[in-house]
Amino acid sequence: MSKEFPEIEKDNKTFVLVCNSDELREYKSKNIFFDEELQVAIFRIKQKLYAVSNICPHQHAAVICEGFIEELTVTCPLHGWIYSLESGKALGSHAKLKTYEVFEENNTIFLEKPVQKMPKWMENL
Ligand code: FES
Repeated sequence: MSKEFPEIEKDNKTFVLVCNSDELREYKSKNIFFDEELQVAIFRIKQKLYAVSNICPHQHAAVICEGFIEELTVTCPLHGWIYSLESGKALGSHAKLKTYEVFEENNTIFLEKPVQKMPKWMENL
């Protein structure tokens, strides 16, 4: 079941209010669950926020929020693929996590509203 979050418009984009600032501590992450196929992991590192898909493309596992943080990378806890939190790109492969805009204002964290894209094979059904 998909979860609804309050929305705001900023710079012609829709953002959703996902949590209070104090729910995301330094060098921690938080998974924002929209539905099984749409989850975003937000990380706070040196007071900056990063948001990437929580679903590792290797085996389609929703585990990125549980990964090991080092510098500005996160390592998937299942098989060790390493992703840049800035670009979402995997080191040493073409895999990529989708990245999202995220900002903090008035003790609240706002995330670019993720959009569920239909897989290409379903477009002509
Ligand atoms: S599921 Fe992430 S590296 Fe295998």
